[in-house]
Amino acid sequence: MPDALTQPNAEEATTPLEYDKKEKKEIIDALNEALSREFQAVIMYTQYAASVTGPYRQQLSQFFAQEIPDELGHAQYLANKVAAMGGIPVVEPAPVPQTTDARQMLLNVVEAEDLARRKYAEYSELAGKYDEVGLRNHLEDFADDETEHMEETEKHLRGWS
Ligand SMILES: [Fe+2]
Ligand SMILES: [Fe+2]
Repeated sequence: MPDALTQPNAEEATTPLEYDKKEKKEIIDALNEALSREFQAVIMYTQYAASVTGPYRQQLSQFFAQEIPDELGHAQYLANKVAAMGGIPVVEPAPVPQTTDARQMLLNVVEAEDLARRKYAEYSELAGKYDEVGLRNHLEDFADDETEHMEETEKHLRGWS
């Protein structure tokens, strides 16, 4: 007689991650969209840190560079989650806005971080809707990280016209 624990009936072999297919696709698509924006952030901060010029180059270069590990951490979490849910993590970044002007770089960063934090608020609600509590908590933390990135960038812009 087959052992029910080691030889489960194929029809009964479900796991907690086997949601309705449509629900699962909705979450995977949202996480992949977020992943493409995290890749964008990694590339944007890398390029801006390397190419920023002007009287504030040293400070701004360090400021941009120090954001990279956070964004990479977000990207790695999202890619792992997409794969865990049976999806394929995207490899294409969202387009990186190009400029050689230091102030415009900061404005581009504020815009990107603002969009990211608003999107994470949306995605965390979606995760909550499907009772994905761990995922929801991570996405809320990411919204918090992006808010901090945005606020710190805005401080650089104050009084700079
Ligand atoms: Fe991020
Ligand atoms: Fe960020």
